[in-house]
Amino acid sequence: MIPKHIVDEIMATARIEEVIGDFVALKKSGSDLKALSPFSQEKTPSFYVSPNKQIFKDFSSGKGGNVVTFLMEHEQINYPEALRFLAKKYGITIPEEKEVTPEEIQEANEKESLYIVLQYAHDFYRDQLENTEEGKAIGKSYFLERGFRNETIEKFGLGFSQAQWDAFSADALAKGFKSEFLEIAGLSKVNEAGKRYDMFRNRVIFPIHNLVGKVVAFAGRQLSKEDKGPKYLNSPETPVYHKSDILYGMFFAKNMIRMKDKCFLVEGYTDVITLNQSGIENVVASSGTSLTEGQIRQIRRFTPNITVLYDGDPAGLKASQRGIDLILAQGMNVRLVIFPDGEDPDSYCQKVGGQEFEAYIEEHEQDFILFKSQLLFGESGKDPLKKAEAIKSIVASIALIPDPVTRTVFAQECAKIMEVPEQVIAAELGKSRRKELDESTRKNLEAAQIAEQIAAEEEVVSHLTETDKQEQQILKLLIRHASDAYDEERSVARFVLDEIDEGMDFRNPLYQRILAEAREVIDKGEALDASYFVQHPDPQVNGFAADVLQDRYRASDRWREIHEISLIHEDENFKPDVFSAILHYKIRRVETAIEANQEELKDASEDEAIDLLMQKQLYLIGLRKALSELIGATIIK
Ligand code: UTP
Ligand code: MN
Repeated sequence: MIPKHIVDEIMATARIEEVIGDFVALKKSGSDLKALSPFSQEKTPSFYVSPNKQIFKDFSSGKGGNVVTFLMEHEQINYPEALRFLAKKYGITIPEEKEVTPEEIQEANEKESLYIVLQYAHDFYRDQLENTEEGKAIGKSYFLERGFRNETIEKFGLGFSQAQWDAFSADALAKGFKSEFLEIAGLSKVNEAGKRYDMFRNRVIFPIHNLVGKVVAFAGRQLSKEDKGPKYLNSPETPVYHKSDILYGMFFAKNMIRMKDKCFLVEGYTDVITLNQSGIENVVASSGTSLTEGQIRQIRRFTPNITVLYDGDPAGLKASQRGIDLILAQGMNVRLVIFPDGEDPDSYCQKVGGQEFEAYIEEHEQDFILFKSQLLFGESGKDPLKKAEAIKSIVASIALIPDPVTRTVFAQECAKIMEVPEQVIAAELGKSRRKELDESTRKNLEAAQIAEQIAAEEEVVSHLTETDKQEQQILKLLIRHASDAYDEERSVARFVLDEIDEGMDFRNPLYQRILAEAREVIDKGEALDASYFVQHPDPQVNGFAADVLQDRYRASDRWREIHEISLIHEDENFKPDVFSAILHYKIRRVETAIEANQEELKDASEDEAIDLLMQKQLYLIGLRKALSELIGATIIK
């Protein structure tokens, strides 16, 4: 348990815009910040962060809340983990963090257990590298020979696994780690004879970190070409390691990527490390898989600009072409660099040093059209067939660009470079696009998508029953104005709670929970304001608070445009709003009672019962009339 005062300190220190800014490229939008939603694949930003209110709202997925909610959702971690993350970021010490005991390992859920096991393995391999004779003689000297400095080895957590069959497994089991988790993590295996052995043996170890810097997997490199098995052995896919979403080096690179507004994409672990060591930190590699769409989207959170630095060998060139298409299809910008024959970024950077390396990139960076034209046509002189092939291939890439203006610009450039009339390219582009998706179906699809979105939003609104809406409205005013004075004696919160007395519970369970908790706090004489709800540990509660504090209609810009709805700001005149919200709610409750009574009347057969119900009906109708007159409504029948 993290003590309450520490939680408070964390909440008071953390700035939501700083924390979210570590994951998402935020742009200023009025007093708020906006970005492409990190929770969905969208092309127009509908993700908002309010530094004033310290909340976020993602209109594409409906998620919203405070900084903790964000971390929980985004990193798929639990509440204490999110707080620890923030404490670490802001240098707040959490007291009484005990060492992990085997019992606690058992209790923790699978993911947490995996993180613990992986961190333990990381420490084990580190220790092997630094503190054992074998590790120093073989592992450490391997890294040093490759030109990695000690501080680099430490930064990337590089390690060593000895040749023994089960050095790690035996140690971990003796420490009380469950074999189950060693196996799920891919660290330990059992052969047919029932003998347990280590996945990584006689290899140097590269830990792979996720976006928040947790170790989620390992790659082990063989020490010599003669050794058995693949050059690099990679951890399997696990609940904490989704290969298609993880880029090697992203944890170390993300801030620099954002600052430089550019990301270098390389092929290998060692490329990332060497470039880092040479002062080029905005670099990542796809780890253990060929590049995926998910990985590109990760980069897009920080910058739209990718420069691909792949090997100049045929495999690298082929991978580059695939990379181009993936990047363009995500609406991002791609540039490419080819290295001299036989060099990869690691070897070239080791050879010439960081400064000259950067100068080389600057000089040789090409856009994809130049790159492809040289690759596919450059050497073939005037061969018209080759030229036609090259044009087709370039145009196929251009056709993937989602933005029509950008597409046209590149089509023009292609015409210039390939020395053909623009119409030829335009015609080819048309063909390519139609092949991608027949133009008319595409239009229909877009229209259908918009319609679907509108329908979904309207459904959300109409789904709220009348009562639900009214309960929501009351809570909205309660949360927004809790501590504001309603009259001389009472705050808005007190007034609302007096009016909605305990017999009149809210129907919606969440709203009722919030109402009851507000009552508890107020009755204890404690302060209640919006931040109480925004900082609430329950994500449902703080999410709701974020919703009502944020303008509900704000981000559905498109919806608003279509319906020409203008914004009405309710904040200035809150007293009459509070009064009428409560009256409307009461009328609604009376009406529900009238309806229920009417039903009973239909079924009643005994005179006495009918009499009673009639009296009740008259009373309720009188009540409705009185309430209606109070707000001057015209619903009196
Ligand atoms: P390379 O074979 O180009 O190796 O593989 P490298 O990165 O230059 O490594 P060094 O410099 O020889 O040590 C590029 C990347 O492909 C993946 C790894 O991610 C590697 O960094 N790979 C390669 C594997 O996953 N398994 C393999 O067996 C080989
Ligand atoms: Mn290499």
